Amino acid sequence: MRKTASLKLSSDAGGPTISKNIYGHFAEHLGRCIYEGIWVGEDSKISNRRGIRKDVVKALKNLNVPVLRWPGGCFADEYHWKDGVGPRKRRPKITNTHWGGVVENNHFGTHEFMDLCEQIGAEPYICGNVGSGSPQEMMEWVEYLTGDGDSPMASWRRANGKKSPWKVTYFGVGNESWGCGGNMRPEYYADEFRRYNTFCKNYGDNKLYRIACGSFDSNYRWTEVLMEQAGSQMNGLSLHYYTVPTGIWDKKGSSTGFPESEWNSTLARTLKMDEYITNHGAIMDKFDPSKRVGMIIDEWGTWYDPEPGTNPGFLYQQNTLRDALVAALNFHIFHRHSGRVKMANIAQTINVLQAMILTDKEKLILTPTYHVFEMFKAHQDGEFLPIELSTPSEIHDGLNLPQVSASASRDSAGMVTLSLANTHPSKEITLKAEVGGAFVSVSGRILTASALDAHNTFDQPDVVHPTPFDAGKIVAGKLAITLPARSVVVLTLR
Ligand code: AHR
Repeated sequence: MRKTASLKLSSDAGGPTISKNIYGHFAEHLGRCIYEGIWVGEDSKISNRRGIRKDVVKALKNLNVPVLRWPGGCFADEYHWKDGVGPRKRRPKITNTHWGGVVENNHFGTHEFMDLCEQIGAEPYICGNVGSGSPQEMMEWVEYLTGDGDSPMASWRRANGKKSPWKVTYFGVGNESWGCGGNMRPEYYADEFRRYNTFCKNYGDNKLYRIACGSFDSNYRWTEVLMEQAGSQMNGLSLHYYTVPTGIWDKKGSSTGFPESEWNSTLARTLKMDEYITNHGAIMDKFDPSKRVGMIIDEWGTWYDPEPGTNPGFLYQQNTLRDALVAALNFHIFHRHSGRVKMANIAQTINVLQAMILTDKEKLILTPTYHVFEMFKAHQDGEFLPIELSTPSEIHDGLNLPQVSASASRDSAGMVTLSLANTHPSKEITLKAEVGGAFVSVSGRILTASALDAHNTFDQPDVVHPTPFDAGKIVAGKLAITLPARSVVVLTLR
């Protein structure tokens, strides 16, 4: 018998706001993310504004990117910001020891990053160096960025062409301090956070939102120690979780040409995000029942074996319909945890890991993941609406994978966005939805393709793109739709 799913939308019982910052990005000095992907320099033949690619700015503006994390990642804990200000030709060249050992010429530094944020309309989220930097260096960076007085760093910024201070809210005190950021124990990092954070001052009207380095996967002890010993001094605590298809870091699986079993295991493993947020969140609740401290998922996404023929240190990978499903499932999880999750940053914006955009010299393509960010943007700052969902599910690699995933939000004008995903690689499903009597019309868009690994290439840039979806009519507050296999659908109810 053909299986069906059903859902009931509670449009009367609203929940917390889905912070727009959940749709944030992350851009690191890694591979071709910053150089080539964003920065081509003022003299490049590629069309640019003050060295930043115009085509990339246009594509990112269309996503309403709320916040952009920079300069790393692991790179942040070896980055010395003073190398990246002042006349470009005088900036020192360094080796990017973490990512491929390539030369970093520091041409993209603080002013260029802040310019990028202004051009795309995003707020900056800067990650400071705890691993190899000093409290003084971090203190001076904050002063350089936000100081409005007659101080050495503010004067230096003015001499470098920026008269008024920038507004910087989100500031990270180290990255992965349990690993590439210094291999610290949680007790040691908790003290380091307290020390470095003390010297990150609020200048003038600028008020920092201080993000401590948090845990990864199921490393719950880190969260426990940080919350107990430094919770009162932070505004946010990060969490990292990457989806690896096989769950084995030495043999992650390929971004294309993968078997159906890896489609299923990738999506099932994505749902571990829910378990990790729930469990880290429960620890945070113990110390912070009012949920003052935000959980900041500042790295998430798929991580595959590097694309054959590319520098393995560049983490370049293709992006397929499977990545679109991964993005949709993660967003639905973040929405459900909106009471605690206040920001998320996909890794990474361009040419690295689960990218929104891939570039090849002057060419640019939008990935299936880009399209999910675009289709879901109506959820940004929406009011979370609870859903009762009944769906068939299957077990893959010992993990439960529901066939249908759903999430809804209402914007300030009363419009409701209902996003849906059918995770099954080959079976469509009928969904009966009770949406309530307040709606008279529904329109929709769908992202799907015939192959599990369908993707866009520089020769065929539009293989996977959203198309209109006929959702039929709402009759007495009810809707019956067929969700095609391997699809993401977004409905707008008015
Ligand atoms: O996003 C790639 C890397 O993954 C980041 O630099 C690091 O923080 C994480 O391990």
